[in-house]
Amino acid sequence: MEEKIKQLFQEFNNRLKADNDAKSLEEIKTDFLGRKSSLAKLFSQIPSLSKEEKAVYGKALNVLKNKMTVLLEQKLSTGQMTEPKTDLTFPSRIPDTGSLHVLTKVNRQICSIFENIGFSVIEGTEIEDEWHNFEALNIPLDHPSRDAFDTFYLDIPESKKGKYLLRSHTSPSQIRVMKNAKPPLAVISPGRVYRPDEVDATHSFMFHQIEGFAVAESLDFSHLKGVLLQFAHTFFSPDVSLRFRPHFFPFTEPSAEVDISCIICRNKKSFVQTDKSCLLAGRRKPQTAKCSVCKGKGWLEILGCGMIHPDVLKACGISPKKYRGFAFGMGVERIAMLKYGVDDIRLFYENDVRFLDQF
Ligand code: DAH
Repeated sequence: MEEKIKQLFQEFNNRLKADNDAKSLEEIKTDFLGRKSSLAKLFSQIPSLSKEEKAVYGKALNVLKNKMTVLLEQKLSTGQMTEPKTDLTFPSRIPDTGSLHVLTKVNRQICSIFENIGFSVIEGTEIEDEWHNFEALNIPLDHPSRDAFDTFYLDIPESKKGKYLLRSHTSPSQIRVMKNAKPPLAVISPGRVYRPDEVDATHSFMFHQIEGFAVAESLDFSHLKGVLLQFAHTFFSPDVSLRFRPHFFPFTEPSAEVDISCIICRNKKSFVQTDKSCLLAGRRKPQTAKCSVCKGKGWLEILGCGMIHPDVLKACGISPKKYRGFAFGMGVERIAMLKYGVDDIRLFYENDVRFLDQF
């Protein structure tokens, strides 16, 4: 009996040491501790033993049973088992890949819409001088409209064209192109602009603009309208309409601010709340509420535009008697915020992947 007990324990240890997974541990349990196991057989021999032997071997078998149970439990709980075979049908983990920033995407989309109707893309310079940023654009030194273009000046010796600065708008690109190329011209010029604004949900000291302009012998306001309508229909939706409101810009005459019909409420100025928001508001039936995007106005401002001022053409050596031009400028962040319903400009610059992942 003593020999059998030793042998059984030896066999058990051998099986346990061998590579085994959860399934084979279960098998070891049945083989060594189950009702038909060798241990059970040894237990069944106890009644046929003498009284002394019964006491000794009964105890020894119980000790063996406990040892084997504990060892098995240990192995199961420490997880020291071989991995189950690889499941080749299991879906693989999709690797995180980089992608373009939403502002880059919007910028490229806008530029390509204008490229498709014959505009060329030209980048200006971020460091400008006062002449290009202001004077040539009909904004004289003492003109009050300069306040609207509050500016970062660079602490370096000035040039013949005035102090150096970080451009406060992309309009100086018009000057750079018109001085160096002959009409007919149709140009789109994207880029960063800088203004010492207090940062909040709608302002940033750096943001992106896209400037567009065209110069030819027979251009008028209707061409400007047609080009902008084409842009709005392609970028937002074919059913948006545009509204031109008279405005003032020193570099265009006449000038206008342009609104699109609200892309959320479709110019209905109000919208029907969803069932969920009604429930949250504790109401039974859907209620009509003021559109939160256009604030019930039905219109959203998207850009400034106008016919290029004759003095601006003159400053670039283009005869205003022979040529006419139109120009427009828009903020890329603003357009992206309207398109995607983003309510805080800072989200674009914080690089939070949870935000960026959505586009
Ligand atoms: N430069 C203007 C700004 O930054 C935007 C603008 C308005 C550009 C009208 C234009 C224009 O070309 O015609 O606010």
